[in-house]
Amino acid sequence: MTSPPNRREFLGAVGASAMGAAVVGTTTSCAAPAGASSVPLPLASGDGMPGGSPLIVSTWNFGVPANAAALARFNAGDAHPVDMCEAGVQVPEADPTISSVGYGGWPNADGVVELDACIMRGDTLACGGVAGLRDILHPIAVARRVMDRTRHVLLVGEGARSFAVNEGFPTQNMLTERAANRYAEIIAERALRGGHEPWERLGPEINDPNEDHDTIGMIAMHEGKLAMAVTTSGMAWKLPGRVGDSPIIGAGGYVDDEAGAAVSTGVGEEVIRSCGSAMIVEAMRHGAAPTDAIAAVLRRIRLTTTSRGATPYDKAPQVAFIAVDRLGRVGALALLGGFQYALTRNGETSLVNADVLEP
Ligand code: GLY
Repeated sequence: MTSPPNRREFLGAVGASAMGAAVVGTTTSCAAPAGASSVPLPLASGDGMPGGSPLIVSTWNFGVPANAAALARFNAGDAHPVDMCEAGVQVPEADPTISSVGYGGWPNADGVVELDACIMRGDTLACGGVAGLRDILHPIAVARRVMDRTRHVLLVGEGARSFAVNEGFPTQNMLTERAANRYAEIIAERALRGGHEPWERLGPEINDPNEDHDTIGMIAMHEGKLAMAVTTSGMAWKLPGRVGDSPIIGAGGYVDDEAGAAVSTGVGEEVIRSCGSAMIVEAMRHGAAPTDAIAAVLRRIRLTTTSRGATPYDKAPQVAFIAVDRLGRVGALALLGGFQYALTRNGETSLVNADVLEP
């Protein structure tokens, strides 16, 4: 039986991969900073870099309008990338047709929409998050308040809601008619199956992978400064109180101007288990190219889910990451097909089909 790599082997592997380019991804042709972990690298000129236009990357096709909003926030003036990220991800948060983020998201097993989000800036490492937040249209804005106005990093449940209300956020019902109707169908299917509850007996069979876990994660970079934001309604029909990776700094997202940024989408339990985004950023700090850093984490997740028996629920989960290193190089990779990301360079946005991790 093959043993999983320890941390040193893992970092060595991604460093070697950075030099050998074993995995082909959506990266620029800039030379990899292999082995330069302790040597400050000169900032290149290009998107995200001094003299260049902002670089914005976000997950899934709803990243396209999100990137546009982030760019508009930049063009409005005086925007740190964290402002761009906060503005950008609010677009899918408010879109009732998106069943995996914000308003319109599929509810939990009790029929209540519970939202997770986090935000972080790469210069100061200031960060904030909310988990299991109910009744608030823009959880990312509440996460920003947690970051800016408290000494805390993460507020959950009723505490997060009270904080938001005290901060002046209006409350509203986040369950759309479409989501309520789908929930009613799910309940009917549950009854047909003998009344077992809740998610674990239903999830794999009835969860449509195209409607579930499709978190918006965004990374923005300008003048060498990075930020990230992540927001989601989480796993459809989840157990009430379930928290995914998205609000957890280091799992759903992480950023450090001295290394890079990463955000995730997909089955949050696997991202938490692998400390995914933090591992990717640390690998980039040690010289890995973004896609190679992602590949190392995805390989570990695949190994964990297939051979180590961490969970009986999902042997082939979808997990994907996007990452940007401190040179502005972009990487993206997924465990399964279908993952797309929106890439804005030089004011132009394209929707890119991400590579899938090689078998
Ligand atoms: N990645 C989103 C979630 O699993 O909640």
